[in-house]
Amino acid sequence: MIKRTHTCGELRIENAGTKVALSGWVKSYRDHGNLVFIDLRDRDGFTQLVFNPEAFPDAHQLSRSLRCEWVIAACGVVQPRGEGLENPKIPTGQIEVAVESIQILNESKTPPFEIDAADKTNEELRLTHRYIDLRRPAMQHKLKTRHQVTSSVRRYFDQLGFWEIETPMLGKSTPEGARDFLVPSRLSEGCFYALPQSPQLFKQILMVGQVEKYFQIVRCFRDEDPRADRQAEFTQIDVEMSFVDTDDVISVHEGMIAQVWKEVLGVELTLPMPRIPYAQAMEEYGVDRPDMRFEMKLKNVSDLAAKTSFKVFTSVIENGGVVKGLCAKGGDVYSRSDIEKTLTSFVADYGAKGLAWCKVKEESGELTFVGGAAKFFEGPLQKELVALFDAADGDLLLFVADTEKTANKALAPLRCKLARELKLYDDKSFGFVWVVDFPLMEWNEEEGRFDSLHHPFTAPVPEEVDKLESDPGHVCSQAYDLVLNGYEIGGGSIRIHQPAMQRRIFRLLNISDEQAQDRFGFFLKALEYGAPPHGGLAFGLDRLVMLLTGTENIRDVIAFPKTQRGQCLLTEAPSDVDAKQLEELNLRTQRHSHAPKKPS
Ligand code: AMO
Repeated sequence: MIKRTHTCGELRIENAGTKVALSGWVKSYRDHGNLVFIDLRDRDGFTQLVFNPEAFPDAHQLSRSLRCEWVIAACGVVQPRGEGLENPKIPTGQIEVAVESIQILNESKTPPFEIDAADKTNEELRLTHRYIDLRRPAMQHKLKTRHQVTSSVRRYFDQLGFWEIETPMLGKSTPEGARDFLVPSRLSEGCFYALPQSPQLFKQILMVGQVEKYFQIVRCFRDEDPRADRQAEFTQIDVEMSFVDTDDVISVHEGMIAQVWKEVLGVELTLPMPRIPYAQAMEEYGVDRPDMRFEMKLKNVSDLAAKTSFKVFTSVIENGGVVKGLCAKGGDVYSRSDIEKTLTSFVADYGAKGLAWCKVKEESGELTFVGGAAKFFEGPLQKELVALFDAADGDLLLFVADTEKTANKALAPLRCKLARELKLYDDKSFGFVWVVDFPLMEWNEEEGRFDSLHHPFTAPVPEEVDKLESDPGHVCSQAYDLVLNGYEIGGGSIRIHQPAMQRRIFRLLNISDEQAQDRFGFFLKALEYGAPPHGGLAFGLDRLVMLLTGTENIRDVIAFPKTQRGQCLLTEAPSDVDAKQLEELNLRTQRHSHAPKKPS
């Protein structure tokens, strides 16, 4: 076999005159009757091969049988391309290889889609033939970036003395709020393992085991519906440290992010990153993962709205609701029908019953409101709102009157949509923010009990522990989330390390002592044997790579992802299994009595 001497992205004009060998896939084929040109591609790039019938008739003859995606090796001499035939857009664009001999290493069927036009190909087809899709430069870039991130992360933690330790995949379930994937046990009939939703309890137990500094790049499994930024099977950069406080954990992780951004993107981040309390994030952005690349803060204008003659506002306020609004700079470009149809139906999807609006216009040197609900705002009220929103000519004011929860739920995504459409930020910029001072628990209306906002192992702020029983909804936790461009990319906390406090929190969450013993007995026992104070965090690796590579689709950064319906189109998982396998596990399924069905 011809052994390659260079990659297909490597050769430059300086190599002219050198005899080289390349291997790769036929990217394109042009037969000019006399000369045959082939672009040969590998993961590094592509190089033009030229076959001349006079100089090397055998190679030329063979070249005419080649087709796209065949795998070949070629040997020849690097030469400058002819005058005016250079391609300045590609690194190898000044040269070509005059081929003396080739070897066909493998043929290929005609691919089901053109690699160069894959962007326009439906995703299902790409996922079914993922091996072809992965050959695209954009996908190769994402795979490479992901590798660079994990490599940088490993180096970073290693240098700081962290140990990478694996934790079990087959375990007992850890509550992270999602459904577990269960694995039946053959040896313990009728019993199940759960795939880890995260290694939360194991990493805490490692701290009890005197490990002090742990990290792991680890697969996690949550049986929830996949979304654009969520997969049932995803990867965390999971970290835990002993004898630390919030500042220690935050600074170690900011350092990691800064190193990754520098090494992978060549971008120097400014540290420390800003922090924002949860309450402020909810007030000003309507969510606990604010996109900080642009302003457009939400304002609670209930006091002013109560003074209007607008029934929609006043009745909501009388019933304990709020009026919140935002000012979209340059929002004048939205027509009345854009606002009353498109934007209103957008917020309706989030539960808002309506969207009040008015435009700000300069008329004879004065700013006044026009359109929509303008007539309900008296002159002085308009002035107050203009000052509050720092509004200017051409801006659009939008208001939702509802419960605070619904107003936030609707305005937060509206804010992002408007900013994106009005191009209010540089989409190459990065808006990092730590959200801190989360409540420890939130009231679950449906279940009539408190739920942890993070997870039950999160420590309360020591100064507020006295309020735990009397006013649990107003106790802050020592949790922190790192948010980037509106995505939660990581979250963690200082943990409870005393068994009595852990039991106390379980009780507040309506987990009885017996249930706690049954589900977490092993963990409570570990805390009784000298658990050090500890805390940690986990990043979503897939989300990090999404943001680093500028995609909004998590499937793009996972080599073999699942579809929205949780299927792997390449392997057709999940699938039926043999009756014998079920028998060994002593399992029977309803489905199994029917004819085997392929996933649709
Ligand atoms: P949490 O549940 O917040 O915390 O997860 C940490 C980070 O993992 C990412 N993430 C996901 N990414 C893709 N698909 C999913 N389904 C998915 N779910 C979560 C997010 C998130 O910020 N054990 C705790 C961490 C700790 O307390 O140390 C945990 O798992 O980016």
